[in-house]
Amino acid sequence: MDIQLINPYNNLPFTLQNDALVDTNDQKFLKKNGAFRLVKDDNYTQNFGFQWNKFTQTQIDRFSVQSSQSKNRFFAVTQWDKEDLSGKNVLEVGSGAGRFSQVVLDETKANLFSVDYSNAVEANFKNNGHHSEERFHLFQASIYDLPFAPQTFDKVFCFGVLQHTPDVKKSVESLVKMVKPGGELVVDFYPIRGWWTKIHAKYIFRPWTKKIPNEKLLKRIEKNASWMINTSQFFNKIGIGKLTNRFIPICDIKNTLPKNLNKTQLREWVILDTFDMFSPEYDQPQRIETVRQWFEEFGLKVTFANTVTFDGNNVVSAVKGIRE
Ligand SMILES: C[S@@+](CC[C@H](N)C(=O)[O-])C[C@H]1O[C@@H](n2cnc3c(N)ncnc32)[C@H](O)[C@@H]1O
Repeated sequence: MDIQLINPYNNLPFTLQNDALVDTNDQKFLKKNGAFRLVKDDNYTQNFGFQWNKFTQTQIDRFSVQSSQSKNRFFAVTQWDKEDLSGKNVLEVGSGAGRFSQVVLDETKANLFSVDYSNAVEANFKNNGHHSEERFHLFQASIYDLPFAPQTFDKVFCFGVLQHTPDVKKSVESLVKMVKPGGELVVDFYPIRGWWTKIHAKYIFRPWTKKIPNEKLLKRIEKNASWMINTSQFFNKIGIGKLTNRFIPICDIKNTLPKNLNKTQLREWVILDTFDMFSPEYDQPQRIETVRQWFEEFGLKVTFANTVTFDGNNVVSAVKGIRE
C-alpha cells in the first residue's frame, strides 16, 4: 500500500510484519478477522458493534434486490466520478457494516481504507472481505487517533458518523488532517433545523434507552415493532403523520427507508433503525453552517454546504471541501 501507516499514539511509522502493524519501538497491533485492531471493543461505540454484527447484511445494497440506497446516497452526496476514482486512495471513517465500503469497492477501482471504532469492522469484513488486500484495508481505530500520516488521502468521506462522536468539531479537524493537497473531504450528518428538532421521541427517550443493555433494548423494540409500524403507517395514510409520528418511538418509515421493501424487510429495517436511534451514547445533530465554518477554520475551501435529497424524500445535510 502506498499510504504511510503510523502509530497514532506516538507518530512512529508502522511496518507490516506477519499480519501485524509494528512501529519502530516494537509496539504491535494485530490483525484479527480482517481488521487491524488499534483499540479495544469496550468503548462508547459497543452498541454499534452489536448492531452491525446483528444486522450485517440488512442495509447492504448487494443483498437487497429492492434497494440501491447506499449507492444513490454515496454518489448524490459526493458527486464523485467513478472513473476519476480509479487508483485513488479513499479513506472512509465510521464504516459500520460497510454499506458505503461496498459501493466504493464494487462501483469504482479506488483503494479503500475503512475505519470504525467498534467491532463492526467484523461485519464489514464479512460483507467486503472478498476484495483483494491491495484494494481494501480495514482498521478498528478512532477518528481521533487515525493510523495514517497526515495529508495523504485523495478523498475522505464520513457518512452518518459525526453526530455520534463526543466532540464533533474535533472529529471534523481529524478528518481534514487526512486530506492531501488537491484532495477532498465530504461529510454527511443529521441536521438540526430548529428548537423543534429535539421535540422528538428519539431525544426524549434516549437518555434512558441508551443505558438499557443492547439485547434487552433490541428485544423491547422487536416486541413493539408491529403496533408501532401499523400506527405510524395509519397516521401517514390519514395525513397527520408529519405531526404525530415524531412522538411514536420508531424510526421515520416514510422518509428514510427504501420504498419497495416487502413486509419482512420493512420490519427488519425498522428494528435496525429504531435500535440505531435509541442506543448511541452520543447523538448531536449539527447545523450546516457550523460544519461549514469548521471546514474553513481547519483550512479547506468549501465547495458545497447544503442538504442533499436522494431516493425520493430522503434528506441528509452535507458539507464538501477541498484542500487547495
Ligand atoms: C450510524 S453508524 C453509520 C455507519 C455507516 N457509515 C453507515 O452509514 O451505515 C455510525 C458509525 O460511526 C462509528 N463511530 C462512532 N464514533 C467513532 C469514532 N470515534 N471513530 C470511528 N468511528 C466511530 C460507530 O462505531 C458506527 O459504526
